[in-house]
Amino acid sequence: MNPFGVGMAHGKVIWFGEHAVVYHHPAIALPLTEHRIHIKMDPSSKTELISPFFNGPLEGSQGFEGFIALLERLREILPFQDATITLRSDIPVGAGLGASAAIASAIVQAAFDLTDHPLDAGTHFDLIQLSEGYFHTNPSGIDAYLSIHDEALRYRKDQSPESIQIDLDAHLVIAHSNVSGSTKDAVEQIARMMKEKKSSKKMADLGHITLNALEAIQAKELKKLGQLMNDAHGLLKRFNVSHPVLDDLVDQALSHGALGAKLSGGGLGGIMIALFEGKSGALAFQEHLHQSGYPHVFIKALAA
Ligand code: PMV
Repeated sequence: MNPFGVGMAHGKVIWFGEHAVVYHHPAIALPLTEHRIHIKMDPSSKTELISPFFNGPLEGSQGFEGFIALLERLREILPFQDATITLRSDIPVGAGLGASAAIASAIVQAAFDLTDHPLDAGTHFDLIQLSEGYFHTNPSGIDAYLSIHDEALRYRKDQSPESIQIDLDAHLVIAHSNVSGSTKDAVEQIARMMKEKKSSKKMADLGHITLNALEAIQAKELKKLGQLMNDAHGLLKRFNVSHPVLDDLVDQALSHGALGAKLSGGGLGGIMIALFEGKSGALAFQEHLHQSGYPHVFIKALAA
C-alpha cells in the first residue's frame, strides 16, 4: 500500500460517428492529450470528492452513480476501503469531451497505484465501461478506449480499434456551447426513435458519412471533409440531439470561413467542432468566440 495513489487521463473529441457508433457503425475520434483529468486518492475514513464542480461525500449524491459503482467494484478487487478523491480538470464536464470516462479512467489508475497493484489495459477498459454504463446507458466504449490510448482512431463497437494517420493542413476549432449536454438523455432519446420510428436508414447514413470521411482523410480532401461534417450535423439534427446554440455556432463557423461544422459527442448541448484550412482562420474564429462569451474554445491540429 502506498501513502496515496495518483491517476491521469485525457479527453477526446469525436470527429465523425457519434451515436451511430452505439449501433455498430464506425466512428473517428481524436485524443485531446493536452486536456486532462488528474486524480489523487488519499486513504480516509469516508469517501468524498474534492473537485471544481462538487465537494462532499459521494454516497447518495445524484449524478455520480457511475463513480460510486466503480468505487464499489474497486473495493471488491483491491485492498482499500475509503478515500478522499481530489480531482483537477482541464476538461469541461457535460461538454462531449469525454470527461466522465477520463475521470473513471484516472480513478481506476489512482486506486491501483494506491494499492500497488498492476493494472492491465483490458481490466482498465472494463472498469471504465462499468462507470460509463451509468452515464451513457449503452456505451459504445469509444470514450473509455480513447481515455487510455492517445492516437486518432477508427472505432467500431466490439471490434479492435484501428489507429489512423491524419496529416492535414487543417485545424478543428472545438467550442463549448456553454450549454451542458446529457449524453444519457441523448442516447436514450435516439434509442426510442430507433425503436418507434424505424430510423435505422438515417443511422446507416451517418455510418456512411464516417466511411467517406476516412477516404477523404487519406486523400486529403478538406472541402469534402467539411461537407461531410455539415451532412452529419444535418442528420444529428434530425435525431433531435442538436441545440439552438449549437446550430448557431455551426452557422457562425461557416460564416467565418469554416469548411464544415457539426456538433460532437452526445449533443443536446456540449461542443461544436468546425474545420478550417490552415491555422489563421481557426485562430480568428477562436478569438471571435472568446469575445462573444464562449470561454472554452480549443484548437486541435489535424496533423501528427
Ligand atoms: O458525450 P460524450 O463525449 O460522452 O460522447 C458520447 C458518444 C456517443 O456516441 C453519443 C455515446 C457512446 O457511448 O458512443
